[in-house]
Amino acid sequence: MMNSRLNRRHVLSALGAATLSAGLPLGALAADKKLVLGFSQIGAESEWRTANTESIKAAAAAAGIELKFSDAQQKQENQIKALRSFIAQKVDVIAFSPVVESGWETVLREAKAAKIPVILTDRAVNVKDDSLYVTFMGSDFLEEGRKAGRWLVEKTKGSTGDVNIVELQGTVGSAPAIDRKKGFEEIIKADPKFKVIRSQTGDFTRAKGKEVMEAFLKAEGKKINVLYAHNDDMAIGAIQAIEEAGLKPAKDITIISIDGVKGAFEAMIAGKLNVSVECSPLLGPQLMQAAQDLKAGKTLPKRIVTQESIFPMEVAAKEFPSRKY
Ligand code: AHR
Repeated sequence: MMNSRLNRRHVLSALGAATLSAGLPLGALAADKKLVLGFSQIGAESEWRTANTESIKAAAAAAGIELKFSDAQQKQENQIKALRSFIAQKVDVIAFSPVVESGWETVLREAKAAKIPVILTDRAVNVKDDSLYVTFMGSDFLEEGRKAGRWLVEKTKGSTGDVNIVELQGTVGSAPAIDRKKGFEEIIKADPKFKVIRSQTGDFTRAKGKEVMEAFLKAEGKKINVLYAHNDDMAIGAIQAIEEAGLKPAKDITIISIDGVKGAFEAMIAGKLNVSVECSPLLGPQLMQAAQDLKAGKTLPKRIVTQESIFPMEVAAKEFPSRKY
């Protein structure tokens, strides 16, 4: 399943560099013509996504690129429509953050036939033919899941009793939900004391995170030792549910989440969230650079990985002033 999605042979940026210009017209774009970039965003489901949108809009303005921005409101059909509209408008480059991994082959073939290069940002697609996109820039979600798992292993070192975990998954079928689950499981499976007793999607939103956590608490109550949330927004929603149930977040239930948005830092500083694994949404400048490189006929690496860290609550107050999203 994962084979073509990332095509692991290409994971390191230095490897498998794709020749962009293969049959594509960008090299021929007149130097004085404003580059037109069509960008299809997933929606506004999280603090992360809002920061990502701002980064893309600001970077396009700074680079003098004409941005045609479309918000898909979390629906793949809307993204496909947006891509088709970009093709009809003959934009120079198409970029998009795919809401789910599968179902892109047809529209990507249409873009290829129209000789419009496609850049994937943030999330990957699962296609057999990886020449359907030029490059994929964004985080290593598998590694983020592993970081979350390693933090938990370290935190519970020496304890022998069961560690009962509930998991709030991201959007069903999305690359971060699939990989963050997989990476976390890969680490915790080494010790049978770790038990994932409930796992359900919260669709990356606060409201859904709260709702699903309420259901977890109703079903499992004080049995729950750990919450692993695939993003900060769901963790923040779940914190409310935990408090409303009369429990203390980050004390009665250890909470691990992903993104490192300001809201998570505030929760950590307030002592309500134990750790957030960083996932940077600030992809705008990199995307504009890539579009301009295409215009200049340059070759791009097939995979551009964002470098990221992990922030436990102990460092939150010190790190907070320098956070950009
Ligand atoms: O694809 C990145 C994920 O999408 C972020 O972790 C999440 O917050 C967002 O909605």
